[in-house]
Amino acid sequence: MLKPAKTPGDTSWFVNDRFGMFIHWGLYALPARHEWVRHNEKIPTDVYDAKYFTRFDPDLYNPELWAKAADDAGMKYFVVTTKHHEGFCLWDTKYTDYKAPNTPAKRDLLRPMVDAFRGRGLRTGFYYSLLDWHHPDYVIDPHIGPYREVSVEERAKMNAKRRQARYAEYMRNQIRELLTKYGEVDVLWFDFSYPKPDGLGKGKADWESEKLYKLVRKLAPKVILDDRLDLPAGWDVKTPEQFTPRGWVMHEGKPVVWEACQTFSGSWGYHRDEQTWRTTDELVRTLIDSVSKGGNLLLNVGPTGRGEFDERALSRLQGMGQWMRRHNRSIYGCTQAPDEFKTPEHCRLTYNPKSKRLYIHLFAWPFKYLFLDGFAGRVEYAQFLHDASELRLDATDWTAGSARAGSTEKTLLLQLPAISPNVAVPVIELFLK
Ligand code: GLC
Repeated sequence: MLKPAKTPGDTSWFVNDRFGMFIHWGLYALPARHEWVRHNEKIPTDVYDAKYFTRFDPDLYNPELWAKAADDAGMKYFVVTTKHHEGFCLWDTKYTDYKAPNTPAKRDLLRPMVDAFRGRGLRTGFYYSLLDWHHPDYVIDPHIGPYREVSVEERAKMNAKRRQARYAEYMRNQIRELLTKYGEVDVLWFDFSYPKPDGLGKGKADWESEKLYKLVRKLAPKVILDDRLDLPAGWDVKTPEQFTPRGWVMHEGKPVVWEACQTFSGSWGYHRDEQTWRTTDELVRTLIDSVSKGGNLLLNVGPTGRGEFDERALSRLQGMGQWMRRHNRSIYGCTQAPDEFKTPEHCRLTYNPKSKRLYIHLFAWPFKYLFLDGFAGRVEYAQFLHDASELRLDATDWTAGSARAGSTEKTLLLQLPAISPNVAVPVIELFLK
């Protein structure tokens, strides 16, 4: 079992809580066809704003309901896009007019959200986009942004008055606001850097990441900082996106704290027509899989333009909550199991080092016996987690003898009922000696 390297931020709660909600909410909820719609469809700023900025009116927005949905799902923290790549700000910032109070929403949308989630005991995380397709000083480059196909000459013209350093200062100003006006912020999630060999991408020099970093650590020394500022060190968490790593995530030969961020259906912002929604069972497995490899899961919701979680999101959150209510003991406080316990076929193991309990998650129902290599003599008691019903350690059935063929004396044979319990993923709880 590996232990992640120590970093400046306080990750102690984070590696315990394991499960958070990502929220992508901005003007892009109105086109409802991906948060990158401005880039994908090369929509000019004035057109985008005339259509969406003037019509952003989330009249059904009730962050209490969002917080409840997250809490009921078993999530322990949330990370919201205070500003995404489009540049639009959810809060009442002093530094731009491109903000929620100037839309028909007419108010700071961030504050009530923070209050609602905190009120339920969830921790607060702010996502902040380094990219900005709206700011007049953001230097336009050919890789990212709505102007990616303009000629070199045209680009030079468009950039004549733009000063990236002023944009970097704008970011510091906004981060100061976010870290001083909304109470304690637990996670700060910058997104993202894209240095390119042609020098036309953007990275630490363009963001002035070192200055930004110093400011963050001064204002919020314990905040958990993600790894997308293009800095070699000082960050706390690696952020694999839309996949689960194969095992521990390493950085320069050392294991690090990590959090996989995943969507329900592919896009992060509300996408009306996307048909690729994952099932509740798959999502439960994704969460288990992350924890079994020592990581967290940040699962995303894209609320609608009227300010609601849509039915597809709600039903999945509810389904996950149903599973979590009875099984969260195999998630909270858990991590990868010690190496001597071999993962049985079609299973995932998690382990709670404090209680010394080991959890076997059955992704496929075994044909009567579960062969546990390396477990013999190490287990005191076994039960299903959902109903605390005992699983006898001594396989007593007359077939057990022949079933043992191929096992060693270190193999423990668990005999399971013929029919799988009616839960998304059955879990066996082992009390270790
Ligand atoms: C990306 C995307 C984006 C999303 C994010 C979440 O880098 O640009 O739209 O916000 O990842 O990880």
